[in-house]
Amino acid sequence: MAVLKLYEYPHPILKKKAQKVEKVDDDMRKFLDDMLETMYADAGVGLAAPQVGVSKRVVVIDISHEEEKMDPLYMVNPEIIWKSEEMVCGEEGCLSVPDQRAEVERFAAVKVKYLDYNGKEQELLAEDFLAIAVQHELDHLDGILYIDRISRLKRQMLLKKLEKMRKEKAHQ
Ligand code: NI
Repeated sequence: MAVLKLYEYPHPILKKKAQKVEKVDDDMRKFLDDMLETMYADAGVGLAAPQVGVSKRVVVIDISHEEEKMDPLYMVNPEIIWKSEEMVCGEEGCLSVPDQRAEVERFAAVKVKYLDYNGKEQELLAEDFLAIAVQHELDHLDGILYIDRISRLKRQMLLKKLEKMRKEKAHQ
């Protein structure tokens, strides 16, 4: 396994709509392993392929937080097939927008259809934090970042902070 290079805002690949995967073969499984390792290396709870420079409809998610109980979800060609009427607001961050967080409104629950690590079709009802993670990662596949879902004023403030942080880091 290998830790892959992370692409950060405003890299254009993050704005691109990702392509469907033809089949889940050994190469794809190796990529899924690398994505998971990259996500764990940065203490993320989710990662989408465009964030490592690959414009394919692939995400990995693990909201377990504890290493002894790793519980990774591999989703190839994921699609939301049902959304709850209820909405929730939660704080989100993203490895492609480092060290920033903002409140985003999401569906409280979603049902998602996808191909798993073995290429088998699965359906999952995601609720609570998992529902938020699924929606955040699937957005990446359509070129949408969570900062596209907050007000323009909040986005401007957040991007200013991001720029300031990058400048400070560059001077260290
Ligand atoms: Ni993200």
